[in-house]
Amino acid sequence: MARETTEQRGLGKDWTAEKYIETAVKEIKAQVGDGKVLLALSGGVDSSVVAALLIKAIGKQLYCVHVNHGLLRKGEPEQVVQVFKNQMDANLIYVDATERFLTKLAGVSDPEQKRKIIGKEFIDVFADEAKKLDGIKFLAQGTIYPDITESDKGVKAHHNVGGLPKELNFELVEPVKMLYKDEVRAVGKALGLPDSMVYRQPFPGPGLGVRCIGAITRDRLEAVRESDAILREEFAKGGLAGKVWQYFTIIPDIKSTGIIDGKRSWDWPVIIRAVNSTDATAATIEEIPYPLLHKITDRILSEVKGVNRVLYDLSPKPISTIEWE
Ligand code: XMP
Repeated sequence: MARETTEQRGLGKDWTAEKYIETAVKEIKAQVGDGKVLLALSGGVDSSVVAALLIKAIGKQLYCVHVNHGLLRKGEPEQVVQVFKNQMDANLIYVDATERFLTKLAGVSDPEQKRKIIGKEFIDVFADEAKKLDGIKFLAQGTIYPDITESDKGVKAHHNVGGLPKELNFELVEPVKMLYKDEVRAVGKALGLPDSMVYRQPFPGPGLGVRCIGAITRDRLEAVRESDAILREEFAKGGLAGKVWQYFTIIPDIKSTGIIDGKRSWDWPVIIRAVNSTDATAATIEEIPYPLLHKITDRILSEVKGVNRVLYDLSPKPISTIEWE
């Protein structure tokens, strides 16, 4: 699909992030007046940039809700609190819903069923929080331009729009809906968001839930989170973090034999996936240097509990999808 110019999207010929911010702030103020706005802040690029824009425009009239479903990467909920509550002084409601999600997911092994449960539970938790707040009239969303054009053409199920119950009756505020992802990042950067937020790799809504294969257990979830953190740390040190499109670990629900401290062990493997892509419809495999692969393997084997084997997935998309579930 050809990219539309800023002019074609009604943004003018000489678009810059700084000018865009100025206009967006004025438009948000005009739309919202002294009303209150609610935002589901996941910590992903789009919702983070929308939050930063709204904080600039209307400050404490914005109420951000960060739902921690227990399936986030290591350090993510903490970063959301640090950036938005501590640094930007936002109204941030942090909900630790880990127990609620993991209880609902216990014993569920079908991937689509897992996605449905996570999606539904997310809406329920968010709606519960919304009902506790008085006088909210607006709902802000991180809809971006490809979300609109792709859902128009039926390319993919829409991630951002239409998920919340209609009876909440909000008017939508969508300040980045005419922008492509790279422009959203430029706006985020100009608003002072940290690079680790603005340039972060794609992360699925169901989070680590689709990387802990089969029925999610707390120990395997912890092992996915820890191994993912090691992979990210080593990719950053090795200069691959900004270069590789998406990289993560997976733990399947199988075990194999190993030896730990001279004794037989019966533990899980960790699978590493590192792919390059432009739009996620196709992906090629990153050729990670062997010394780095060995280093990551050694660290995972010595630092992550319950793991005795590390594998590298060499399968491109197609035939394989990027995520294992
Ligand atoms: P697949 O696995 O289909 O993934 O090759 C393509 C891209 O989409 C992400 N992905 C998801 N994102 N909810 C999301 O928000 C999901 O359920 C989901 N499943 C996959 C995946 O991480 C990759 O970037």
